Amino acid sequence: MGPSEMESFIRKMPKAELHLHIEGTLEPELMFALARRNKVQLRFKNIEEIRKAYRFKDLQSFLDIYYEGAGVLIEERDFFDLTWAYLERAAKENVRHAEIFFDPQAHTERGVSFETVITGMRRALEDAPAKLGISAKLIMCFLRHLSAASAMETLGRSLPFKKWIAAVGLDSSEMGHPPKKFAEVFRQARAEGFLAVAHAGEEGPPEYIWQALDVLGVSRVDHGVRCLEDPALVQRLVKDRIPLTVCPLSNVKLRAFQSLKDHNLKRLLEAGLCATVNSDDPAYFGGYITENMLQAQTALGLTRAEVAALTRNALEASFLSPEQKRSLLNGQ
Ligand code: ADE
Ligand code: ZN
Repeated sequence: MGPSEMESFIRKMPKAELHLHIEGTLEPELMFALARRNKVQLRFKNIEEIRKAYRFKDLQSFLDIYYEGAGVLIEERDFFDLTWAYLERAAKENVRHAEIFFDPQAHTERGVSFETVITGMRRALEDAPAKLGISAKLIMCFLRHLSAASAMETLGRSLPFKKWIAAVGLDSSEMGHPPKKFAEVFRQARAEGFLAVAHAGEEGPPEYIWQALDVLGVSRVDHGVRCLEDPALVQRLVKDRIPLTVCPLSNVKLRAFQSLKDHNLKRLLEAGLCATVNSDDPAYFGGYITENMLQAQTALGLTRAEVAALTRNALEASFLSPEQKRSLLNGQ
């Protein structure tokens, strides 16, 4: 298969996106438009200045700018516009299903209500199947740099909207905030019927992945790329077929890997892991899901079979019903 055939194979492939922070899809153009609409003062004068600020040395240096950008999101329609813009873009890339993270505490901490955030996103999700041919679910993430008590309060606020939320997750600054800090929150969330996922092994050690599995009871691990440092952990992930939502461009931008050629995605597949490719925060990292797949394929020399496996893995790893998975797989 030549390079242009591979490119068109990747572009046309029906896709599922499982690791996408809606706040991380805020493109500079929309950031400016919302700042103007809501009369929020940005410290950037223009779009070039914003793009220049997007040079990160690690996860924390990115998160500082990501939370700052989210400050323009205030009204329900802002959350609708943000979500709709992502879904339109994803549909054009043949994404048929997306499981979307949101960070309620990034908004409630600024005085925006939980209801405002979720209602805006939900309206966009409801319109998407008929208008764009894409289905979507929401995953509510707790910010791990905040306290377990704050996460517990957020869980309480989410309960009236439980039917709109598929799972809980854990994100933000990983180092120094191990999954076990949130053991009780996840226990209660799972008792309420939420599925669970967690960012682990992005910057943090394999031990954090063990905790995500054994203490939080996650059914997927977000990133998880550091698992290869621990053969017993790999064995466990393979045996239980625990998916990893890998984000290649993010990992390079945040310096988990020096370059895409150094990324371990191909080795994850060779180890028999259920790895998937995702975009994380595409407005900040320079590429949506197709770009992640295209660049990873080129840099790592992924075969057609490996590329196809990545998409099959994503469908398998999704929280869709077996029937929905089957019908998406058959459309492939
Ligand atoms: N929040 C948004 N993107 C994130 C990432 N890659 N890791 C942790 N928290 C995040
Ligand atoms: Zn993430």
